[in-house]
Amino acid sequence: MEMEFVCSSMRRSISKLVKCTILVVLWFSCFSFTSTEAYDPLDPNGNITIKWDIISWTPDGYVAVVTIFNFQQYRHIQAPGWTLGWTWAKKEVIWSMMGGQTTEQGDCSRFKGNIPHCCKKDPTVVDLLPGTPYNQQIANCCKGGVINSWVQDPANAASSFQLSVGAAGTTNKTVRVPKNFTLKAPGPGYTCGPAKIVKPTKFISADKRRVTQAMMTWNVTCTYSQFLSQKTPTCCVSLSSFYNDTIVPCPTCTCGCQNNITQPGSCVEGDSPYLASALSSSSKNSYTPLVQCTNHMCPIRVHWHVKLNYKEYWRVKITITNFNYRMNYTEWNLVVQHPNFDNLTQIFSFNYKSLTPYAAINDTAMLWGVKFYNDLLMQAGPLGNVQSELLFRKDKSTFTFEKGWAFPRRIYFNGDNCVMPPPDAYPWLPNASSRSVASLVGPIMTFFASLVFLLG
Ligand SMILES: *[C@@H]1O[C@H](CO)[C@@H](O)[C@H](O)[C@H]1NC(C)=O
Ligand SMILES: *[C@@H]1O[C@H](CO)[C@@H](O)[C@H](O)[C@H]1NC(C)=O
Ligand SMILES: *[C@@H]1O[C@H](CO)[C@@H](O)[C@H](O)[C@H]1NC(C)=O
Ligand SMILES: *[C@@H]1O[C@H](CO)[C@@H](O)[C@H](O)[C@H]1NC(C)=O
Ligand SMILES: *[C@@H]1O[C@H](CO)[C@@H](O)[C@H](O)[C@H]1NC(C)=O
Ligand SMILES: *[C@@H]1O[C@H](CO)[C@@H](O)[C@H](O)[C@H]1NC(C)=O
Ligand SMILES: *[C@@H]1O[C@H](CO)[C@@H](O)[C@H](O)[C@H]1NC(C)=O
Ligand SMILES: *[C@@H]1O[C@H](CO)[C@@H](O)[C@H](O)[C@H]1NC(C)=O
Ligand SMILES: *[C@@H]1O[C@H](CO)[C@@H](O)[C@H](O)[C@H]1NC(C)=O
Ligand SMILES: *[C@@H]1O[C@H](CO)[C@@H](O)[C@H](O)[C@H]1NC(C)=O
Repeated sequence: MEMEFVCSSMRRSISKLVKCTILVVLWFSCFSFTSTEAYDPLDPNGNITIKWDIISWTPDGYVAVVTIFNFQQYRHIQAPGWTLGWTWAKKEVIWSMMGGQTTEQGDCSRFKGNIPHCCKKDPTVVDLLPGTPYNQQIANCCKGGVINSWVQDPANAASSFQLSVGAAGTTNKTVRVPKNFTLKAPGPGYTCGPAKIVKPTKFISADKRRVTQAMMTWNVTCTYSQFLSQKTPTCCVSLSSFYNDTIVPCPTCTCGCQNNITQPGSCVEGDSPYLASALSSSSKNSYTPLVQCTNHMCPIRVHWHVKLNYKEYWRVKITITNFNYRMNYTEWNLVVQHPNFDNLTQIFSFNYKSLTPYAAINDTAMLWGVKFYNDLLMQAGPLGNVQSELLFRKDKSTFTFEKGWAFPRRIYFNGDNCVMPPPDAYPWLPNASSRSVASLVGPIMTFFASLVFLLG
């Protein structure tokens, strides 16, 4: 009787707790919804800055080097790369370009003899591809528009092209800055501010013995918002633990629903003959995902398994699985928020850097693959996963397996939010751990841990 009473009151308090958690989660999502305008709480200063340096004046304009710096900690631009557009303030034309090209030439019929590279009022520029002849390259160009993130590979976090502009001003008083910059990466998501004239950039020669400077420089800052990118989710999280057999799957229909009737072929079974034909068909170069059929239909799933409990430490296994047959994720990254990251002791087979946007709170980690080992997350199939284990030192004042504490608060894959299961679905501790027997939790957990440990 008494036990029953304890349990039912416990259940009531759990349901209260769940409601409370849901409220908190809702509050948080409202918060992030209104603030997603151009703000990522885990990378509050993240931006892409486009710097436009006028290197020299020409009889009818100037030569400029434009550099796109990715100052975002973890969001990168993957294939098929960036697209940069703007609107000229006057009747400027682009005579020639290096390290990049406009997608359209536009109407150059008013020119005779020398024909410009582009006469459009609103040119759109893309990067050149790797393997471009050297005489058309400049430094930091020709990577097919791929730009790495600032933390992961700062040496490859910028992309440049050079352009010679005509029918423009020829002094810093007559030049007009272009308007209405747009950056696609390659889809929507970025919003760019107006160009601001800043102090001319100083260039230091390779031997560091001479400094030159641009004639004039302006900067444009672009920020990302997942809300603007209007994407359906692309990633979800599943959970499990050593203390409960339940594997909590990704929420059903997170990224789409299986619908064999209205949308046959919206997903494929791993062993279906349809797969081979779909992959070899004309859509081969398509970037729309072709996903394996799952309840969640996401191209990416992150699984968090609470694996072991030692006296002083506990251990988590993370597995990232690719369900997309059309995509190898190069230079993938994961951002994970969990309060125990301030006591991360060891991490196996992934790179790690702590992200501390709010100096006092060290609860967010960026994880990415080891070069030539697992920095490539292969297309769906037997090789389409990467995994790692994390060892955390317990902080007695906060550590608990209760209330889902051992599970992550937030996960991003390549900068996009991974949808978590609802908090009330998290694996529970066994009944024995109710508050009335709290004193038993430690020993029981240790017992479980050693059992699991012994069983391998
Ligand atoms: C863009 O990011 C850089 C590097 O983090 C930072 O110095 C700069 O202030 C940011 N710009 C804006 C407008 O936030
Ligand atoms: C333009 O150039 C003059 C010197 O030639 C300089 O004093 C002035 O600050 C420059 N203005 C801008 C906006 O760069
Ligand atoms: C800015 O660009 C967007 C998209 O290219 C376009 O819809 C808009 O009309 C442009 N605004 C101006 C002032 O040119
Ligand atoms: C302009 O951009 C460059 C490169 O990102 C940066 O170093 C410089 O500080 C920026 N200037 C201003 C005033 O934001
Ligand atoms: C779609 O087909 C798969 C197997 O072909 C099946 O497992 C799944 O239940 C079907 N889904 C619906 C909504 O009919
Ligand atoms: C992924 O990489 C492997 C090995 O490099 C290659 O065989 C495969 O075609 C690639 N898949 C896609 C979808 O690009
Ligand atoms: C955060 O904690 C981890 C693990 O103790 C440590 O390696 C890292 O240096 C810390 N980061 C900061 C910015 O304090
Ligand atoms: C965990 O990390 C915090 C901050 O780095 C430190 O103050 C604390 O002593 C650590 N706890 C343990 C058990 O190592
Ligand atoms: C494991 O957790 C689930 C919730 O995900 C719960 O329904 C189940 O009762 C738990 N099992 C045990 C043995 O406590
Ligand atoms: C946990 O308690 C509930 C209700 O009190 C009971 O139905 C369930 O079987 C218990 N589970 C375990 C694993 O003891």
